[in-house]
Amino acid sequence: MEHRQVTATAPSSTANLGPGFDVFGLSLEAFEDKVTINARSEQSEQIVIKVLGEGSSSISAKVEYNCAGVVVRQMSKDFGVKNHLDITLEKNIPAGMGLGSSAASAVAAAMAFNRLFDLGIEANRLLEYAAEGEVISAGTKHFDNVSASLLGGFVLVRTYPRIEFIKVDAPRDLFTVVAVPSLKVPEKKTELARRVLPKQVPLKNVVHNVSNASTIVAGFLLKDVEMISKGIDDLVVEPYRKKLIPGYDAVKRNALHSGALAVTISGAGPSIISFLKNRKNAKQVATSMSEGFKEGKLECRTFECRISKGARIVSTT
Ligand code: HSE
Repeated sequence: MEHRQVTATAPSSTANLGPGFDVFGLSLEAFEDKVTINARSEQSEQIVIKVLGEGSSSISAKVEYNCAGVVVRQMSKDFGVKNHLDITLEKNIPAGMGLGSSAASAVAAAMAFNRLFDLGIEANRLLEYAAEGEVISAGTKHFDNVSASLLGGFVLVRTYPRIEFIKVDAPRDLFTVVAVPSLKVPEKKTELARRVLPKQVPLKNVVHNVSNASTIVAGFLLKDVEMISKGIDDLVVEPYRKKLIPGYDAVKRNALHSGALAVTISGAGPSIISFLKNRKNAKQVATSMSEGFKEGKLECRTFECRISKGARIVSTT
């Protein structure tokens, strides 16, 4: 064991960006989860979790129900680690709001464990571990949030014939406003939000979404915020999921009137994200989104945020 204690942070993220369901992720500077793993010299194979921070009350400290815990348990097993491990999870990302909260905890845990035992695990494998943590909240493995949270910027997930990640830096003038409603979300919200989706999709909607998803990728490559925004419109997922978000149409309409270039559901919702070119209209967009949620009888918090550079190790002792 090279270190006794390692702390890593991982940022929030938004998945899908409209047409890129389970394929696109974008890291957001809004919040960061922090995971510290302390390895005791005693050999007990025990993992003890302490959850701190704003969102701690809704997060289980039981290893099998905790995204960081599941990841650390699996990595300990695979790498034959037998030390007693204490995990401190500082939960800053609101849970269940579509901001990649579970993903960030899982990513920070995988990164901290990798450094604690100097395992030199490559990014793809770390993401496989982090995606194990996602199963707890979504019921299935999906890589869009974990990859954006680990790698930073915009990430596209290839799934066939094997998982691969393509990262593209975001344009510097890409800016977002996220509105997080005060909606009490059910447990397993992501799983529920996946169940409302259609099993079959009309071909013309597939064409629309492929065209738009391609436009988004071109926009990131060309560093063109307007082009990215042109691609956000989605005919496959948004029509079904917006029904779960009171006031969705009003929030979107208001934000577009106030200068947002595009608006969509952040991940599985219920947060809504607006895309802007620089921060010029950000305040007006944020206010207009709050007004929109009022039409759905909801209060909301708004965050103006840039794109994050991804997860990092913040301390080792
Ligand atoms: N792509 C996933 C979904 C993200 O939309 O269900 C969930 O965080």
